[in-house]
Amino acid sequence: MTNFVKVAHTADIPSGSRFWIEFEEETLVIFNVNDRYYAIADLCTHDDGPLEDGELQGFEIECPRHGARFDIRSGAALCLPAISAVPTYEVKVEGDAIYVENPDAY
Ligand code: FES
Repeated sequence: MTNFVKVAHTADIPSGSRFWIEFEEETLVIFNVNDRYYAIADLCTHDDGPLEDGELQGFEIECPRHGARFDIRSGAALCLPAISAVPTYEVKVEGDAIYVENPDAY
């Protein structure tokens, strides 16, 4: 688990919720969708707005600023005004501990 850091317990991120974690270089949002976890940078690639409070429908999050949507599984930009993917980070669960790739390690 090189480059992974423990960030939470499963009880901290119940299904349908999200969790923010700040690293030195980046803030991540971890989503729990049907007990699977997905982590993305909390930074819209259109104009650097935060995605944290964006509406999540299925696996699509909408930027609250101008409405760009991203797939939280791949980070792919799904509509304008964003054209670039948002960074994603791998999440692992061991027991009740949640680990995420450390964005500061790159
Ligand atoms: S900052 Fe996200 S769509 Fe513009």
